[in-house]
Amino acid sequence: MMDVNQGRMCIRERNAKDRRSTMNINRSAVERAAKLIVGGKLVAFPTETVYGIGANAFDEKAVAKIFLLKGRPASDPIIVHIHGESQMHEVARDIPSLAMDMARAFWPGPLTMILWRNPRIPENVSSGLPTVAVRLPNHPVAIALLVAAGVPIAAPSANLFSRPSSTVGRHVIEDFGSTLDLVLDGGEATLGIESTVVDLTGTVPTVLRPGGLTMESLREIVPNVRVRSSYVSEQRASSSPGMLLKHYSPRAKLLLFSGDHEERVLEEMVAKAMELRAEGARVGVLATSDQSIEFSDRAFSVFDLGDKEDTNSIARSLYDGMRRLDSEQVNYVLVSAPRQHGLGLALWDRLYRAAEGHIIFID
Ligand code: TXA
Ligand code: MG
Repeated sequence: MMDVNQGRMCIRERNAKDRRSTMNINRSAVERAAKLIVGGKLVAFPTETVYGIGANAFDEKAVAKIFLLKGRPASDPIIVHIHGESQMHEVARDIPSLAMDMARAFWPGPLTMILWRNPRIPENVSSGLPTVAVRLPNHPVAIALLVAAGVPIAAPSANLFSRPSSTVGRHVIEDFGSTLDLVLDGGEATLGIESTVVDLTGTVPTVLRPGGLTMESLREIVPNVRVRSSYVSEQRASSSPGMLLKHYSPRAKLLLFSGDHEERVLEEMVAKAMELRAEGARVGVLATSDQSIEFSDRAFSVFDLGDKEDTNSIARSLYDGMRRLDSEQVNYVLVSAPRQHGLGLALWDRLYRAAEGHIIFID
């Protein structure tokens, strides 16, 4: 693990799979980060899903700085991270037994639960809602930081508002430069896609954001869980904000193709790419390995997401792909929609938002 202060950073990316066994935690960096958090400063840190920008969740002023730094609307609430089940009570109240069952089944891991907010958590964390989002991340650096700080840490994803999330330390630096007090670098996020957000304050447990914990796994413990299907428009204030379209997106316009026949979809993508280039546009493609071949000899910017069946690998590389194509200054990013099962549901959701809710259907 590396750390950076005031933008000086030496990045060493590790293979995500190696990390669990080989990660040595830089204790002094973690201690420094914890002191900064307790002192009201902001620190970026790795989790297994994506990097977060953390502040002491009890410190209203520190939390306010997160919104400013990210350019995040005050109406979009923040997840509070904890290091153990016992800490849930510092953050939430009237915790249902289902939440404890879910915690035991899925924590540490990519599950965020919406519970009733403990008044110790300032209102701005939850954008004035009576609820709070709580997660116990599965990452040794995040846990070490939470333990050392001794306070719950409010942390949104470490990206500028509406930009793709950060899955390596380099992405955090790209977005924030030296404006952060410290970045803990824990290499590449093993999952690469945000947590699944489940609301437990209504009559039926409801997924507000599909994520790294799949519906299939969730249903094993919560058979009646449902997915909120409608997406809230950006204009409308709502009891579950943050579900805005135009989110997680590259600067380029993202064109999302979908259809039952893969070859037809690919044909249309190639045709569209050629057409846009003929108009003088720079065209990027987020392609699965089988699709890459079709684009590679045609002078498009192609980012290979990996095997189309391997949604884990696609999830790990999706945001990096968006960011890399942006750095090549493409005007368009073409991508095909994954199937909506397993991790594919979360991937689909992020692409749908990045495409601002527009899908190009191919018969
Ligand atoms: O994996 C993750 O969840 C990462 C890592 C850093 O933990 N965090 C993350 O945070 O993705 P963020 O801020 O980018 O997304 C938090 C989501 C938003 O959709 C927000 O609206 C929702 O959680 N959320 C937070 N508090 C909520 C609440 N009280 N009620 C409803 N939704 C809430
Ligand atoms: Mg985010």
